Amino acid sequence: MSHDLESVAATLVADGKGILAADETVPTLTKRFDTLGIPSTERSRRTYREMLFTAPGAAEFISGVIMQDETIRQKSSDGTPLAEVLSKQDILPGIKVDIGAKPLAGSPGETVTEGLDGLRDRLSEYHGMGARFAKWRAVIHITDALPSVVCVSANAHALARYAALCQDEGIVPIVEPEVLMDGDHDADRCYAVTEWVLKTVFEQLYDQRVALEGMVLKPNMVISGKKAKQRAGVDEVAEKTVRVLKARVPAAVPGIAFLSGGQSDEEATAHLDAINKIPGPPWRITFSYGRALQAAPQKAWSGKTENVAAAQRAFAHRARMNGLAALGQWKADLEKKAA
Ligand code: 13P
Repeated sequence: MSHDLESVAATLVADGKGILAADETVPTLTKRFDTLGIPSTERSRRTYREMLFTAPGAAEFISGVIMQDETIRQKSSDGTPLAEVLSKQDILPGIKVDIGAKPLAGSPGETVTEGLDGLRDRLSEYHGMGARFAKWRAVIHITDALPSVVCVSANAHALARYAALCQDEGIVPIVEPEVLMDGDHDADRCYAVTEWVLKTVFEQLYDQRVALEGMVLKPNMVISGKKAKQRAGVDEVAEKTVRVLKARVPAAVPGIAFLSGGQSDEEATAHLDAINKIPGPPWRITFSYGRALQAAPQKAWSGKTENVAAAQRAFAHRARMNGLAALGQWKADLEKKAA
């Protein structure tokens, strides 16, 4: 495996830094903008991304940014490609390359992530545009009867095909098997499904000759369903999350960067911090948050030029809180001081 892949993977999970997932598709970002009354145009989406990418004080805590196709082709207001705006600040540009979770034939209620057709050519084009890492998200639903064997195996197979293609093209794959927190299941059920999914994903990565040293895993935490009657507390989430990862993630993987998955901003930070306070795991453990980094700045901005500075402060604050949590050095009263 190339030394480059190893060094990019290590850079993504460097001490006290994590990843900003800013790769919402146009329909998803439009939905988020709609709730705040922000018109969604090519220009407003660019303004929004540029605002995050240039927020003073954030780069110290952000190792990489995941963009999507529209964003990596955009230029900032002064004409600099957005990928270059990032790399000038030593932030690695990344790109979402899946084309979404689509209904899985024969398995009502389940999805398989698509986007393998033509992927090699797209990866090569994105590499030329500066992308050094990529993301592919598989989605697993929990119900009393789901997930099915075919859903877990089809998604794991596709993740490994994507990861192998990325490494062939000199791009570090972020491998994201997300077990959703929708539903009323408890944390133990999430544990069992997460364990099964991770086991299957690493079998596929092995079979398809993916070099574990040159990838980053982006898993869910082991957490109760959103509608569970009694939700597991922070320490239980941390303990179960570390336990399942130790059971199923080889030590050759350099780093783990969690998704936030619909947790509140502070919950996502508190969980990451508690996970990092547990001694012993062999990998770096950090964040690759979308909503938990962006909800606050999005709201503060609300599409108004006069709010840009406040929105950038809100973003830099969340980046710093999560950077501290990645070191196990976050404290709840740091949130109050900033408020
Ligand atoms: P959330 O942190 O909002 O779950 O997004 C992370 C991500 O990249 C999902 O694919």
